[in-house]
Amino acid sequence: MGIGDAPRETWATRAGFILAAVGSAVGLGNIWRFPFQVGQEGGAAFLLIYLLFIVLVGFPAILVEFVVGRRTERNPVGALKEIAGGVWSYVGWVFIATGFVILSYYSVVAGWTIRYAILGLQDGYLADAAESEGQFVDLASGLEAIALHAVFMAIVIAIVALGIQRGIELAVKVMVPAIVLITAGMAVYAFTLEGASEAYSYYLSPEFGTIAAEWTSILPAAAGQAFFTLSLGMGVMITYASYLGEDRNLAEDGVIIIGFDTAIAFVTGLIVFPILFTAGVDPADPGAGAIFVSLAAAFGDLTLGWLVGFVFFATVAIAALSSAISLMEVVVAYVIDERGVDRAPAALVVGGGMFLLGVPSATDLVLLDLFDLFADQILLVLGGLLLMIIVGWLLADVAIDELSRGIGDLGSLGRAWIWAVRLPVIVVLIVALTLGILEYYDFLTGPFADWIGETF
Ligand code: TRP
Repeated sequence: MGIGDAPRETWATRAGFILAAVGSAVGLGNIWRFPFQVGQEGGAAFLLIYLLFIVLVGFPAILVEFVVGRRTERNPVGALKEIAGGVWSYVGWVFIATGFVILSYYSVVAGWTIRYAILGLQDGYLADAAESEGQFVDLASGLEAIALHAVFMAIVIAIVALGIQRGIELAVKVMVPAIVLITAGMAVYAFTLEGASEAYSYYLSPEFGTIAAEWTSILPAAAGQAFFTLSLGMGVMITYASYLGEDRNLAEDGVIIIGFDTAIAFVTGLIVFPILFTAGVDPADPGAGAIFVSLAAAFGDLTLGWLVGFVFFATVAIAALSSAISLMEVVVAYVIDERGVDRAPAALVVGGGMFLLGVPSATDLVLLDLFDLFADQILLVLGGLLLMIIVGWLLADVAIDELSRGIGDLGSLGRAWIWAVRLPVIVVLIVALTLGILEYYDFLTGPFADWIGETF
């Protein structure tokens, strides 16, 4: 409990916790990042490896965050102080810093999704790829981007300020079912498109030759995606599990949450690829601008594309919102627990700070990359790695004991879980961190150095 002695908030219902975790997991990672990773990494081959990593890496890792949160009933900094102590307490700080940085630019990207939803209603999308790209460059940075970043952040602040039950839980109970229904509806629509069958065979029949030839890039990309999409590595699941207040079967909750997240990512592929194939866009092309450039151009090409585009981008905005509240809640929980500040002022100050930090990202795409690559490929992986080392190697018995509460005797499954954390999870994270640092170095000495040269 914090410095103030009010009892700690809890979820009102089991569904509340599950929906909040699903809402956090389902976000830009599923709808924006996942399809373009599949496109870049060779289609079905990537999908197969990704599913493998969800089970092998994602499931053990999400349980680690759950047990730490439920055991301590604290924010990540307080949790690590209590459960590990000493220098390990600082790992909590890595989580807070990561959340702060990620939400600063995640909110900018979310602002684009709002802009693109409005675009459908206003003048529709541009079918020509080069024009669509030009439009994206125009809209991505500048005053309008900053204004939409402010609007999005204000909504996040309002929801988080209302608290766990009246804010986050209520919001996700509306948002998550909406995302599921609209996604299902759009998949049915995509099924009727001309390019559907070609798209399905691209997406669903893996060529094992591709895996063999390109595993060095497929494996780390799939592992990174598995971690990001489940919101792991910065204490979101620690924080959400800290509001459980009762012993439930965490393994079962984990399976449900992962199942939903994976299903939404998978179905998004069933939407995006038929649209791209129908409009004649090569799915290997898009890159990071994917949904804003090539998908928008495809919407410009389709009959009633403006309407489909509007529904699509509005859904992405909702998904981004339910993820953003989890990112802010990590930092706000810290300020409430450890600094004794009330929830509303805490949300306002944290959100205000995140808004300011995000302004550079809304003025130049290179700066957005600077923050994104650093948070996503280094901070997130580093935080995740340290937590897995702490729990897997130093606190194994405590972790097994905590997991068994609400399940009963785990037998040898408890040890199997810990060994999954100790080996596959940790090895994957070390490889991902190494590659992430190398990539960041290339970015700093390449695009970023060029940008500095041009600007100053
Ligand atoms: N999982 C979210 C997505 O797929 C993004 C996200 C939210 C996230 N909170 C996170 C990623 C915490 C890493 C850590 O878009």
